[in-house]
Amino acid sequence: MAAHNLLKEVGVVFFLVTCLCNGIFGLDLSDKCGDVLPGCFCTDYYIDCQGAEFQDIREIYPFITKQTYRIRMTDGNLVSIPGNVFTNDELIGPLTELKYLNLSGNGIVSIDGAAFQELPNLKTLDLSNNDVIVDSCDSSSKLANIFNSLMNIEYLSLHNTIRRKTSEPCGLGFMFSSANMSHLTSLDISDNGFDIIDEEMKSFLCETYTLTSLNVSYNLMTSFQIPLCSNNLKMLDLSMNQISYLDHVDVEIIESFVNLESIRFRGNPFHCECSLAYFIFWVNETNQPIDADHITCASSTNSSLIGHPIKGLEYAAYCEPMIAICYGPRHVVRLAKPTFIGIVAGGLIVAVIIISSVIYCRRRSRRQHKTTTTTTKMGAESSMTGDVSKNTLYSRMV
Ligand SMILES: *[C@@H]1O[C@H](CO)[C@@H](O)[C@H](O)[C@H]1NC(C)=O
Ligand SMILES: *[C@@H]1O[C@H](CO)[C@@H](O)[C@H](O)[C@H]1NC(C)=O
Ligand SMILES: *[C@@H]1O[C@H](CO)[C@@H](O)[C@H](O)[C@H]1NC(C)=O
Ligand SMILES: *[C@@H]1O[C@H](CO)[C@@H](O)[C@H](O)[C@H]1NC(C)=O
Ligand SMILES: *[C@@H]1O[C@H](CO)[C@@H](O)[C@H](O)[C@H]1NC(C)=O
Repeated sequence: MAAHNLLKEVGVVFFLVTCLCNGIFGLDLSDKCGDVLPGCFCTDYYIDCQGAEFQDIREIYPFITKQTYRIRMTDGNLVSIPGNVFTNDELIGPLTELKYLNLSGNGIVSIDGAAFQELPNLKTLDLSNNDVIVDSCDSSSKLANIFNSLMNIEYLSLHNTIRRKTSEPCGLGFMFSSANMSHLTSLDISDNGFDIIDEEMKSFLCETYTLTSLNVSYNLMTSFQIPLCSNNLKMLDLSMNQISYLDHVDVEIIESFVNLESIRFRGNPFHCECSLAYFIFWVNETNQPIDADHITCASSTNSSLIGHPIKGLEYAAYCEPMIAICYGPRHVVRLAKPTFIGIVAGGLIVAVIIISSVIYCRRRSRRQHKTTTTTTKMGAESSMTGDVSKNTLYSRMV
């Protein structure tokens, strides 16, 4: 028995050693480009450049082979990605082996709409931290349908990729309107200054059943706009947007996402008042994995709630008690208590002013009447009127 085990272990070790040797001697892993392209390391299988100086991605052409499966050009100085850059005649045809393309952290300002053609097996594309200028967020944009040929993409990052140059409402649907990404599991569209999830983006999300991770954080969305059909999501990050309010429909959509492992709302400017009550109650009660301790009131009529977590807030603290005023069988007006007191007090003050001015005017006209009848005795009027006014004042005080 022991001998048998020993034999098995020796077999495993032998197998591992063989693999390792094949790895080292079977593949040519020596650097081919370091002299020509400082900052880069290229083998027949991958191209790795970090902080390289050159601006034109085509500098790497001589080092791309039929077997290249990874291209990583990060934190460099690339400015633009031309159309058909991976299918150009200078290359050896479509890069069918390419699985990973990372262009993060360059100063890329423009990407041609046909930049990612002929990469049929690309699984990972990282375009984060670039400055791609977007003048219009519709089908007239150069970036419209840019990802259409990425059939096998699994991970796509557009974190901080786009410089929006339009004040029109901007969603990202124009890039995805006819994309068919039936393997996409992770999409990061954080930090791009967009304010809506437009209809095209919604239908893309609905068609992409495989999507489990969606990062929409650090944008300018003012409401929850994730469609009901995104129910395979495990991770949904909506933090650092401009959401001040969620209603019961939004809450029901979140409840219907049965696979959630994390949903984030931190850093949104929630307005803690009566209309948020449904959400506030729900946050306290739900079993969904929400970052409740980090969701706080950004504004409220009760100023001591600003910065306070909404979880467990008592209704009365953020929602002033209402006083219902009925007039007629179906007419009800609800007023917050301070508003009601304000209206009543204001009404009283107005009434007092009206009544006292009426009294004052009446007395005055009576007095005038008196003085006109006594105009003949125009001797010591000044002391007389003084006496009269003193008398009036006295009688008023009485
Ligand atoms: C792309 O490169 C950046 C910078 O090196 C790195 O932080 C990021 O994780 C890479 N992306 C992927 C998907 O590996
Ligand atoms: C999307 O691509 C898959 C294969 O990746 C294919 O089966 C499906 O028919 C395509 N759908 C559309 C609408 O083109
Ligand atoms: C979403 O993206 C933001 C910005 O890059 C990042 O800070 C955050 O950790 C991401 N969320 C998740 C759940 O990974
Ligand atoms: C919050 O939930 C706790 C525990 O379920 C409960 O005791 C408490 O009354 C709730 N508070 C509010 C304001 O709903
Ligand atoms: C304001 O909120 C604080 C903290 O929850 C609470 O103690 C206080 O009663 C609230 N004030 C009003 C006027 O509701």
